Amino acid sequence: MLAEKVKKAIRDIPDYPKKGIIFKDITTLLNNGELFAEVVDYFANKYKDVDFVCGIESRGFIFGGAIAYAMKKGFVPLRKKGKLPYTTVSEKYALEYGFDEIEIHIDAFKNIKNPKVLLIDDLIATGGTAEAAVKLIQKVGGEVLAAGFLIELSFLDGVKKLENLGVKVDSILK
Ligand code: PRP
Ligand code: MG
Repeated sequence: MLAEKVKKAIRDIPDYPKKGIIFKDITTLLNNGELFAEVVDYFANKYKDVDFVCGIESRGFIFGGAIAYAMKKGFVPLRKKGKLPYTTVSEKYALEYGFDEIEIHIDAFKNIKNPKVLLIDDLIATGGTAEAAVKLIQKVGGEVLAAGFLIELSFLDGVKKLENLGVKVDSILK
């Protein structure tokens, strides 16, 4: 089962980046080409109806870019503040540790009417990042068909934030 393989492939790093946080390190999974491709294909095969894949900087770019390539769909980056060169819309959010802000270009979905989007990130914890991402996509006219994550930290209830915005969550490992 894919979830089992993912569980075995990632590693826990205790007390990173702060004491008391157990960091889920995905680099050991990325190192396994077969499994990385399996994760990409899981999402690429399931959401063929979308027009765009949106990835959240930075770890969401690794999976989102590969998924968009596999689907031959456009990729839209949601970037940390100050990184996108054109006019942006931005959204602040609280992280598990600290605060941050992400942005999207106002014309991200310019040439498509009622664009349908697959949102991708490596992990959902409190859901603050993904919630901000959904709000940004909606603000520039996109409809999020699903939000896909490699890992969901279920005990933090982040999924509820997305469900409240009408977004279906699809996590490989809970
Ligand atoms: C991590 C992770 C998610 C987010 C999840 O990213 O990659 O994007 O936190 O947390 P949340 O559900 O509590 O909002 P981080 O901001 O650490 O940056 P990175 O992807 O650039 O490493
Ligand atoms: Mg991230």
